[in-house]
Amino acid sequence: MPISFDSEKRIFKLDTATSSYIFEIYEENYLVHLYYGAKIPDSNLSAFRYTGGFASFSPQNINIADGMFSPDINPFEYPGNGAGDFRTSAVAIRNADGNNVTDMRYVSHKIYSGKPSIEGLPALYVENENEASTLEILTEDATTGIQTVLFYTVFENLGAMTRSVKVINNSDKTVEIEKVMSACVDFHTYDYDMLSLYGRWGKERSLERRPLAHGKQLVASKRGSSSHHQNPFAALVENGATEDYGSAYGFNLVYSSNFVFEAEVNQNSGTRVVMGINPENFGWQLKSGEAFNSPEVVMVYTPDGIGEMSRIFHRLYRKHLIRGKWKDIKRPLLINNWEATGMDFTGDQLVTFAERAKELGIDMLVMDDGWFGDRNSDRSGLGDWQVNEEKLGGSLAEFVNKINALGIKFGIWYEPEMISRDSNLYRAHPDWCLHVPNREKSIGRHQYVLDYSRQDVRDYIFGEMYKVLSSCKIDYLKWDFNRNLTEVGSAILPAEQQKEVFHRFVLGTYDVMDRLTKAFPDMLIENCSGGGGRFDPGTLYFSPQIWTSDNTDPIERLTIQFGTSMCYPASTMGAHVSACRRTGYDTKGNVALWGSFGYELDPNKFTEEDKRIVKRQVAEYHKYYDVIHFGDLYRLISPFENHFRAAWEFVSEDKSEALLTCVTMRRHPDRMLIIKLKGLDPDKYYVDEDTDEVYSGALLMNAGICLPNAEHDDGQSFIKYFKAVE
Ligand code: GLA
Repeated sequence: MPISFDSEKRIFKLDTATSSYIFEIYEENYLVHLYYGAKIPDSNLSAFRYTGGFASFSPQNINIADGMFSPDINPFEYPGNGAGDFRTSAVAIRNADGNNVTDMRYVSHKIYSGKPSIEGLPALYVENENEASTLEILTEDATTGIQTVLFYTVFENLGAMTRSVKVINNSDKTVEIEKVMSACVDFHTYDYDMLSLYGRWGKERSLERRPLAHGKQLVASKRGSSSHHQNPFAALVENGATEDYGSAYGFNLVYSSNFVFEAEVNQNSGTRVVMGINPENFGWQLKSGEAFNSPEVVMVYTPDGIGEMSRIFHRLYRKHLIRGKWKDIKRPLLINNWEATGMDFTGDQLVTFAERAKELGIDMLVMDDGWFGDRNSDRSGLGDWQVNEEKLGGSLAEFVNKINALGIKFGIWYEPEMISRDSNLYRAHPDWCLHVPNREKSIGRHQYVLDYSRQDVRDYIFGEMYKVLSSCKIDYLKWDFNRNLTEVGSAILPAEQQKEVFHRFVLGTYDVMDRLTKAFPDMLIENCSGGGGRFDPGTLYFSPQIWTSDNTDPIERLTIQFGTSMCYPASTMGAHVSACRRTGYDTKGNVALWGSFGYELDPNKFTEEDKRIVKRQVAEYHKYYDVIHFGDLYRLISPFENHFRAAWEFVSEDKSEALLTCVTMRRHPDRMLIIKLKGLDPDKYYVDEDTDEVYSGALLMNAGICLPNAEHDDGQSFIKYFKAVE
């Protein structure tokens, strides 16, 4: 069993193939954290409990005999608030007496095979019980009777674990949860760099690295979505760690709304990490007998560098997060009309898109925004999900039949959480959007946000979607979300529960997504939020791919895709070739192949040469699908570090195939370009399909391949495919 409990020493040990996580039940039932890092056989780590001298400003627990135990300086599993530990808390609950002192101590535990799901929330899953083991620890605040259950699930073979928390109100009074983090990890030192992903619309998930310093450093969102601006991912990596070397601890929250990741370096130069729902603008009334579930944090540790950390996340998410029919089978290669037409299209025009798509070998046409209600600009129509038959030249079924008759599948766009100010729905139900009394509502892209905390609102929208989606054969749905939440209040909740609306909103979104996946299990869902504004594991649980960014410039996409790959696998990244100005179609295709591939342009405008390139790309998409979607990613040359070029490589799990891509952002003055491959079998021989030359894996990884640089001008790129020979 990867999880063990030494009942004599009262020590828990959670092992994966590469890591150990160790903590103890100390006197007075404090849960003291002892170790998280590379796998070790020992559990004798009591020296890491801090019993040395401490500053006189750190309070002590008088019940511990030697008087040398202070909650302020010991490393803890799930620290409370206001009871002797002044560092950032993991949990704070305002009790019926009005104070928020919270002090959870160990009561009992159980260890079992498998992994429980979390009611109402997305979470990693197992298909059979042998794939993971779980430890549940019950803790209690003896004064208030409030309990927490700490869940730890270990994915032994993958070097990963998940953590989440359930708060139970066992008292007979109502209390308010002010802060409930999904996990806390107390590191003993602060010799780490923090990695995080920042951005904005059109520039999502740029990688940033900073050394930890005393005090708090944090990334967070309070936008009502995980956001373009900061992603719910962060890592602590050993100072000096590279793609291939050094300890890396990755954290990723399975949640699509307000989050926080905090790393606080304290007076003894230890680092406390907490991650969970952002306590700012959060509060939750918990009545007697009720329970509250936190979302879960995925934690990955590897001693083998940042690249391996990413590969562990990728393997974990492909197997234990992505669900449904499209998890393991080839996704359709699509063409989307948005960048070509905006909302100004007709049914007949889209039929010509499908005809060209058929000639080129594309599988599916996606009709984007503008097919419903009075939706001819972004000022109106959201919420009125009735087909605009005038625009389509007939019913949706008639239109889809024409597309299907060409042998092309059909997909459709929705923005289910939104309502236009100028819509029949808003005129009929002005109180159905998020709002607070007597205050003007902010507008975003001319629209308001529906109050998804309300069951009646969700039922109505789901009902309208169901009517359309069941009226004909729809193979794909793009779920969009084009603004963030403001004036967050609900007309049906009492004043003391208004702080719950952010969380209730995302639970409502998950509820509708869940109903949709159950009602249409064969339909592929791609999420989107003005590009990649809600790119997080919570969203991926319901849709195996997400539109990575509205920015389809292949050079700017490099940093976006490199950053996104920190924890999200290639198969999750929607990536399309568009008609944007920069680079030729070759490079656009080579960059978009790193993802769920497609086109976003008017295929009627292709020249004969363009068509030749597209047909080649379609063939490449099929040929390289498995190595890209199921293989291991190696980031070889990062555009965050190198201003001339970027390179990456996919290697199949059995190391029999490798696909190398290199893009020149700016011509390099050197005459030769040497790229060393990674992840191959040194003892295997590989044929370079361009030249028919055969090289050992050892040569390709140590000497590399050598190419004349003169051929690599600004915006040019190449892919190279290596296949093992028998
Ligand atoms: C968002 C999406 C785009 C497109 C438009 C439609 O911006 O990111 O891809 O669907 O909405 O309004």
